[in-house]
Amino acid sequence: MQDLDEFTVTDETLRQMAGTQNPRMKEICDAAVRHMHAFAREVNLTPEEWLQGIQFMTAVGQACTPIRQEFILLSDVLGLSAVVNALHDKKAKELGTQSSLLGPFFREGVELTPMGTQIVEKPTVEEIVIYGTVTNNDGTPLGNALVQVWQTSERGSYDLQERNGESMDMRGTFRTGPDGVYYFRTVRPLGYSIPMDGPVGAMVHAQKRHGMRPSHIHCLIGAEGYRELVTALYFGDDPFIDSDTVFGVSQSLVVEAKEDPASPIPGMRAVHYDFRLAKAAPGESGRVGADPTKLMKAAE
Ligand code: BEZ
Ligand code: FE
Repeated sequence: MQDLDEFTVTDETLRQMAGTQNPRMKEICDAAVRHMHAFAREVNLTPEEWLQGIQFMTAVGQACTPIRQEFILLSDVLGLSAVVNALHDKKAKELGTQSSLLGPFFREGVELTPMGTQIVEKPTVEEIVIYGTVTNNDGTPLGNALVQVWQTSERGSYDLQERNGESMDMRGTFRTGPDGVYYFRTVRPLGYSIPMDGPVGAMVHAQKRHGMRPSHIHCLIGAEGYRELVTALYFGDDPFIDSDTVFGVSQSLVVEAKEDPASPIPGMRAVHYDFRLAKAAPGESGRVGADPTKLMKAAE
């Protein structure tokens, strides 16, 4: 029998896991064990602290509901989602529009809406237009591309928060025609605080962070044969543009609503943004994030 210490227990754990059939699963689990053990040794983790960590993760799980994904939120505020996004972008065969976080408020099943629709049921502030063309990397327009958008209201909350998941608002799904053009009306969303009433919020408070995201509109764009693009457009004059709590902003995604004679809907300020989709590699897997309802069902 071996006498294990804090170093040799790592080797023994890896030895016992060596029969893992799936090579990718083995690579991930081996690395997770090595890094977790090294982390515990580096901080000299005490039993009390370890238990506190377990309690925290338990609370994160318990905070998950069909309309709330506290684990995605945890990954977001720790920068892990941004790392996974960046790695995913780097694997692309060619560069398209930069990606950004899907976030926990994406919902599937939003009905297709005619181009130009106002996606906010009862706008109470100035309406604006968002428009542009979905193209491939050479700038050729892509017809039949699916453009899904979702955002907060002018009050800074999603329909999932304002309506408790009972009905949808501030969401749109559009299909481009042969010219690749998309356009819709909306209001400028207000920047907002990530959900702070759960264990992740408590952690963010303890870290003395503001918990805010700058004003943005989420976009999920797909076309046959192309990588699905998960991204967001960020309003550059938001006070939190340089300190996003979940690290989603990049310069190339920053926009401004302004007078624009080329806008398809005259008389409103417009944001013009063209999306470039990169060709998909065979068998490439997709998006960083998911509809929380789907994750809950998959876990059952
Ligand atoms: C969002 O943009 O919807 C979001 C992203 C990460 C955490 C919380 C919200
Ligand atoms: Fe968001």
